[in-house]
Amino acid sequence: MPFSDLRQFLNHLDERGDLLYIRDEVNPKEEIAAYIRKTSDTAGPALFFEKVKGFDMPVAGGIFAHRRRVLMALETSQDEAPEKFVRAMANPLPTKAVERGVCQEVVFSGPEVDLMRLPIPTFAVGDGGPYITLGMVIANDPDSGATNAAIRRLQLKGKSRLGIQAHGQLAIQQAKAEARNEALEVAIAIGCDPVIPLVNQWKASYGVDELALAGALRGQAVEVVKCRTVNLQVPATSEIIIEGRIPAHVREIEGPFGEVTGYQTPATPKQVIEVTAVTHRRDPIYQTVLTGVPTTEHHVLKQFAIDASYYTDLKGRFPGVKAVHFPGAGAGGLIAVIAMKQHAKYEARNVIAHMFGTVQNKLVIVVDEDIDPFNIEHVMWAVATRCRTERDVIIFPHLLGGNLDPAAEEIGTTCGMGIDATRPFGEPFPVVTTILGVERVPDLLAMLERQRAAKS
Ligand SMILES: Cc1cc2nc3c(=O)[nH]c(=O)nc-3n(C[C@H](O)[C@H](O)[C@H](O)COP(=O)(O)O)c2cc1C
Repeated sequence: MPFSDLRQFLNHLDERGDLLYIRDEVNPKEEIAAYIRKTSDTAGPALFFEKVKGFDMPVAGGIFAHRRRVLMALETSQDEAPEKFVRAMANPLPTKAVERGVCQEVVFSGPEVDLMRLPIPTFAVGDGGPYITLGMVIANDPDSGATNAAIRRLQLKGKSRLGIQAHGQLAIQQAKAEARNEALEVAIAIGCDPVIPLVNQWKASYGVDELALAGALRGQAVEVVKCRTVNLQVPATSEIIIEGRIPAHVREIEGPFGEVTGYQTPATPKQVIEVTAVTHRRDPIYQTVLTGVPTTEHHVLKQFAIDASYYTDLKGRFPGVKAVHFPGAGAGGLIAVIAMKQHAKYEARNVIAHMFGTVQNKLVIVVDEDIDPFNIEHVMWAVATRCRTERDVIIFPHLLGGNLDPAAEEIGTTCGMGIDATRPFGEPFPVVTTILGVERVPDLLAMLERQRAAKS
């Protein structure tokens, strides 16, 4: 059975000893971020901040900071995750409309709206203010009515005002509305069931509803309820919903903000959201994620969908591809590692060339199938021992790139480096040393734990 909401998932983590309750009061200005940074850097637990200074709402954070918790949310294993993703993305399950949703147990609209009541953290030094970092922004296409849902960073600007960084499909929707001198209605869901933020990174075609993809991935339709002040539907079991509109032709300074690349992005004029309502559960939990220097939840959230989408694409063209991974070090997509069994000489190079045919990549490393692409130490061992740089490093100068790479010559451009770290095809190569019987050795950490317990 899929998790019906965030709190059910938190209980699940608690039962498995992977949720830490922080009972001391924490300040939302940088202190929450510091705790999440620490747990991210130490493969620690998800965090539940019970007392947030100045607020009467708890905060959950760091939930996606480790892949093990994402696998729990997806109810799958590392090996099966890509296939599960791919199957679901090919078979969207439309949302199911319901009359009532717990996300509307409490309703504030018009002059009652006060975003300052939400315990929105401030993250990095130099950030322009508090930021909502796990707000699923939902909007409909002004022509077709098709829904798009994606996480966008949102800067707190006042009691009923947010700044928004609207790239991707939201930018298309907003431009269409603006061309008609119309505002674009939006709804922001915070604290959804844990599968919803995970589909967000799947590059769905324009017009595909990400909530229908979430339904397919969780194996049960996402229940949605009508908003109170805008003509949109939102996940009914969300903790908090913010409703509003992006007015046409209004731009205000947004930023600076420490981004997924690990660098601060400057303040620039961007769209704003005029908030028309805030609704929430009777005892809402505010959910946040950390972004910044890898690896954070932002990187982990991105990985699952992009690993799966590139895996499907490559596997269809190069059947020897066994696994694809975009490590956190690639700041959300700049580095790809592909493990494959080559079927012909130089096939790895075709894979590299194909990868540079898409806009995501800056460094592509292809390794043999015995290398675990999720283990960067292992990958670098292959680069060090199987690659002859004068032969196996391929540079692709002047490519179209993403828009966040701080080293880019110009925004939107990049330069690619491919490394063929596979053994030369069909040629003799030294045998890898092997130790037998490792799988029969018991869990040493559990043994150590027992030894400690026996002594105390
Ligand atoms: C934590 C987090 C924060 C994000 N912040 C933004 C953002 O501020 N603006 C944006 O356009 N995309 C942001 N993204 C990326 C988009 O959610 C993602 O690229 C999504 O697939 C875009 O969907 P679209 O293609 O439907 O526009 C963020 C992703 C995550 C995981």
